[in-house]
Amino acid sequence: MNLILAILSSVVIAGQVCPQQNSFCVVAQTQGSDTCFTIHSSFNGWNGIGIGSTRMKGADMYIGWTNSTGGVTVGNFLGGGHSQPPVNTVQNHRVVSLMDPKPSWSQLSFSFCRPTVLSSNGQSVTPTAGFIYGASGNIPTGNLDDINKINLLQHDANDAFQPDFSASNVPVVSNNGGSNTVKPILTPSSNFSLQSVIITHGVLMFIAWAVSPFIGIYIARYLKSALGHTWYILHVFFMAVLTGVATLVSFILIFLYSADRFSNIDAIGNAHEKIGLVVVVAVVIQIILGYISNAKFDPDRPAIPWWDQAHWWLGRSLFLLGLVNVYLGIAYYSRNYDLAGWVLPVFWIVIAVGIAGMIYGQATKGQDNHVKSTEDSRKIMVSE
Ligand code: HEM
Ligand SMILES: *[C@@H]1O[C@H](CO)[C@@H](O)[C@H](O)[C@H]1NC(C)=O
Repeated sequence: MNLILAILSSVVIAGQVCPQQNSFCVVAQTQGSDTCFTIHSSFNGWNGIGIGSTRMKGADMYIGWTNSTGGVTVGNFLGGGHSQPPVNTVQNHRVVSLMDPKPSWSQLSFSFCRPTVLSSNGQSVTPTAGFIYGASGNIPTGNLDDINKINLLQHDANDAFQPDFSASNVPVVSNNGGSNTVKPILTPSSNFSLQSVIITHGVLMFIAWAVSPFIGIYIARYLKSALGHTWYILHVFFMAVLTGVATLVSFILIFLYSADRFSNIDAIGNAHEKIGLVVVVAVVIQIILGYISNAKFDPDRPAIPWWDQAHWWLGRSLFLLGLVNVYLGIAYYSRNYDLAGWVLPVFWIVIAVGIAGMIYGQATKGQDNHVKSTEDSRKIMVSE
């Protein structure tokens, strides 16, 4: 009977996924129009899964903990940001007796059932839905028997996964690039949060790619004659320090504090991390090319040599890539946190002002290159 209903409901979901082997496993089985989940966890505080999102924001969460009479209370919450999620106005689930035997390593096991398809107040279970889990070894405080008065302390383990419960050999796709949670190299202390690390990373990259290149490239392209030797010093300051050093510092910062390792489950996050890596490597090459161009400068040269050309074209493409990645970073941030309304307008205004400045330079001055000039070599180009 169940089998027939499961086939009729067209979404057959049955199987086990362990985002963390011998530490956190989820068993799912279809029962009529419901999907029932069993959670086994080595954490004895609280354990939850979120359906329909690979981040807390937007996830339809079911969280269970041991209540005052020794049973498990399960609450349905809707993830908003990186804090305790608010209680769902409609509780979509019912707790049922354990549907899958408790493994020896499990400290807390419980089962609940909820509709497979939800059109409002929750997310549907589909074969491609993203999932998250969170687990804590700290017993919640507040009233253990009341989902409205429970106080969950932040998780000790968390990850995103995309379970294919219908596959017999269940693959685990992890947010952190493996079936086990990758720990960040450094964790934020009580003085600062991961969010403040992310904002610092973003502000540095914004200066490095949305502000500094407009000025540094403008100087190299239009102000060589006007500024004399100073053009080179200014160009190096903007491009090697404000762009180059800031990029490296900002990259190292996020690399140390983030658990993502270039295999983010989120498409925007994934693109942002991979493009970011390319930008970091390319900016180092770009600075080396600039150094060569200056060192090998010959005022009697008949034409622009290839390393100069390479520096121009890598510089132009890198600038574009960096700008795109700042935008992707803002988009990725807004998927996990609430983005202040002024951020994107400021981004677009800065770009508009930068482009207007470039158009002004091109119209009034034109590209300023040194070929067969008799000027002091130090005045001469490094970038366009
Ligand atoms: C007690 C309330 C909670 C607090 C204070 C909290 C806090 C946080 C913070 C600060 C982060 C960012 C750090 C990081 O990415 O490693 C985070 C991420 C995460 N949390 Fe929570 N969390 C809570 C509840 C939950 C619950 C109930 C779940 C799952 C059912 C969950 C799942 C996740 C996941 C999967 C991530 C990584 C993806 C993302 O960035 O959103 N959290 N949480
Ligand atoms: C504790 O959990 C069990 C199982 O869900 C439930 O039957 C019982 O009513 C709960 N106790 C209280 C006091 O809420």
